[in-house]
Amino acid sequence: MKLDTAHSEPITTQKPLPPLAKGLPLLGSSLSMLSDPLRYFLRMFQNYGPIFRIRVPGREYTIMAGLEANQLMATADEVLSSTEVFADLKHELGTEKLLVAMDGSAHRTRRKLQRTSYSRDSYVARIPQLMSTSEAEFRKWQVGEKIPVFRTLQRIVVRQLSTVLLNRAPGDNFESVRTLIHMNMLVSITKLLPPLALKHPSYVQAKKLLLQDGHDIIAEHLHSNERLPDLVDALLAERDEEGNPLTEREIIAEMIGSYNAGMDTVAGTVSFMLYAILKSPDLLARLQPEIDALFVSGRLNVDSLKDMPTLHMTVLETLRLYPVAPLLPRTAAKDFEFAGHCVKAGTPLFLVNGLTHFLPEYFPDPERFDIHRHTPEARKSRPPNAFAPYSFGAHTCLGAALAETQVMVLIAHLLHNFELQLDPPDFTVHMYFRPVPTPGDKLQVRILRHRTKTSA
Ligand code: HEM
Repeated sequence: MKLDTAHSEPITTQKPLPPLAKGLPLLGSSLSMLSDPLRYFLRMFQNYGPIFRIRVPGREYTIMAGLEANQLMATADEVLSSTEVFADLKHELGTEKLLVAMDGSAHRTRRKLQRTSYSRDSYVARIPQLMSTSEAEFRKWQVGEKIPVFRTLQRIVVRQLSTVLLNRAPGDNFESVRTLIHMNMLVSITKLLPPLALKHPSYVQAKKLLLQDGHDIIAEHLHSNERLPDLVDALLAERDEEGNPLTEREIIAEMIGSYNAGMDTVAGTVSFMLYAILKSPDLLARLQPEIDALFVSGRLNVDSLKDMPTLHMTVLETLRLYPVAPLLPRTAAKDFEFAGHCVKAGTPLFLVNGLTHFLPEYFPDPERFDIHRHTPEARKSRPPNAFAPYSFGAHTCLGAALAETQVMVLIAHLLHNFELQLDPPDFTVHMYFRPVPTPGDKLQVRILRHRTKTSA
């Protein structure tokens, strides 16, 4: 299959438009898109190939999927733009520039400045503080109690991310973070709800609280520097081409962007991973000694975390079977050709980075959870771009190493402290797209036993 993306000038040859996927009258593909877009795109990929168009009321998208699409992101993503898709979000947050919504050299410069703040070391340097965040939650849990997994993890993850990135726990502001992120996802990014939804009093109040919180955090940072350096310090040090610092609103927008990047992705991954482990007693039995050894006094550090092959392979298999960021919105930055079809500048696109995870040629029997797909030998046996939980190219996840460490620490901490059971034990998880993939509220675990004194 020809991948032709190297054109920097408008293309003169007339390739056909991508095929249009059949949909319902008036509704087009919207119902399938809303219920399970990943499985829907997989079926359409099998019918039409790596590029096709879909219609939803009022809009048309071009979908690009499969190994060729992942390779395009990895090698030629100058044909893809992130500026337009996040225009409404930037407007709502009162900023002209936001890392996820930038292209080209300005994006590269800002990304470089933020790299250290999003590093694994930033997380590991604060592990004692981060563990006490989870412990505060664990101490509330009683034997026999049912815990709603995703919501609880969202709360812990937001607290941890605020500690790592802002040197601040948002305390009671968790609900505001959640409201602001989810409403913007539905209104400003996916346009599933009309702009009027942002006038709802709960949203207005959440935004007011977070703007005030952001103001206070910046003031604290300007007032004192007795802390480990963080994202706010990086943003305060940034200067534009004319040497001007970022405005307060620009800094707060990036702070909110960091919650947006980390909250549901990490909470979702830990939730799906806990489910997969509790479904497999053999896997749990293999993990438990590895995890318990991590808590032998003083061992929880960057080296001991690297020395956990079973836990790490379990994280990777969770990211494969339950990819929490599997569809990425873009627009075409210029005319280009892909797989024998033309894409015109300005076309709204979805890049389905997670689709290759379900292709049997790369992952045989793809619906089966199997950590052995991630041994060093197995990894070598498939094309490098087939496993794509963090996508590729200019916008590839900046927090990937931090995220994996956070997932490992959270799961290890949970399973070291508690014996858990799914409730009900025969529960089967689904991926709900709301609009980012989540396990939904029905995923619950029951506390069977405290395994340590800390949690009892
Ligand atoms: C399992 C967890 C995570 C997954 C699967 C994940 C996945 C992704 C993906 C696919 C992108 C690309 C988005 C795009 O191209 O439009 C991305 C971007 C990003 N992620 Fe993650 N992410 C995770 C956790 C985190 C965490 C914990 C942080 C930091 C707190 C983070 C920070 C970022 C940032 C800053 C970007 C934007 C990079 C840019 O635009 O240059 N991510 N992530």
